[in-house]
Amino acid sequence: MAPRHLMSPLDFTVEELDKLLDLGNDIEKHPEKYAHACEGKRLATLFYEPSTRTRLSFEAAMMNLGGKVLGFASQDSSSASKGESVSDTIRVVSCYADIVAMRHPKEGAPLVASMKSAVPVINAGDGGHQHPTQTLTDLLTIRSLKGHFDGLTVGFCGDLKFGRTVHSLIEALCRYSGIRFVLISPEELRVPSYVRDGLKAGGFPFQEVVALNEETMKDLDILYMTRAQRERFFNEEDYVRMKDFYILDREKMKIAPEGMLVLHPLPRVNEIAVEVDDDPRAVYFRQAQYGVYIRMALILTLLGISVDA
Ligand code: CP
Repeated sequence: MAPRHLMSPLDFTVEELDKLLDLGNDIEKHPEKYAHACEGKRLATLFYEPSTRTRLSFEAAMMNLGGKVLGFASQDSSSASKGESVSDTIRVVSCYADIVAMRHPKEGAPLVASMKSAVPVINAGDGGHQHPTQTLTDLLTIRSLKGHFDGLTVGFCGDLKFGRTVHSLIEALCRYSGIRFVLISPEELRVPSYVRDGLKAGGFPFQEVVALNEETMKDLDILYMTRAQRERFFNEEDYVRMKDFYILDREKMKIAPEGMLVLHPLPRVNEIAVEVDDDPRAVYFRQAQYGVYIRMALILTLLGISVDA
């Protein structure tokens, strides 16, 4: 049977996604049940771009399931530095591992890999395009802490142009009813036109604003902060001009709604002051923990492994 891959969060139907999130919650509550589920299985992490959370949470996820991990953490430490193509690499790694997580600076590289792979390939971030497992993490965090998606007002703030986690999460949230978006960014870092056009075509209520202030935040259930994606700017001058455009600090949190959760895919640079970390609404480190549960659920699902209740 052809392996099932994950390139976009939309690869799962809403029903499949619900099941995956339920599994993530069950793993959170009963980790011991899953401790041997992947014994004898191997995960390869092929990271052509830097990562802390995604790579290590995938590796932790597989280890928590009793499986083993192998891989590389940079292009330089792989034969890509000698000119090997992604297609050749995946054909070889398919012989060594049962499932692969790949991050690549080029949009579509994991998709190319999936076409040549004998085992499931997971897109762990491709250029400025998609980051589906971050989206699954964000969805599990939101559903676990808010209890539902329908009717939420979600604000995205910062670099909405290059922030691939923003693009993936907007797409995923559009499948629920009554969702409203507040897109907060400098003019130069607005969401790409394909995202805006998709929102318009689907009739989703959204507004684009520049200021992060009381008026902008007053209806938010979620504020999803992002950093300026330095590695995707065309020049350093633009990055320096944009990098501290937004700083969420204690003063701003004082004028934010009581129930507004602050998420961030991390890494954080300056856009959330460290003093906000102790605010109970700041859930970005819990979000990183949810990333392990959902990746465990994803590995089990793509490998077709079920654990009895
Ligand atoms: N959120 C995220 O993708 O972090 P890393 O780049 O550290 O993997």
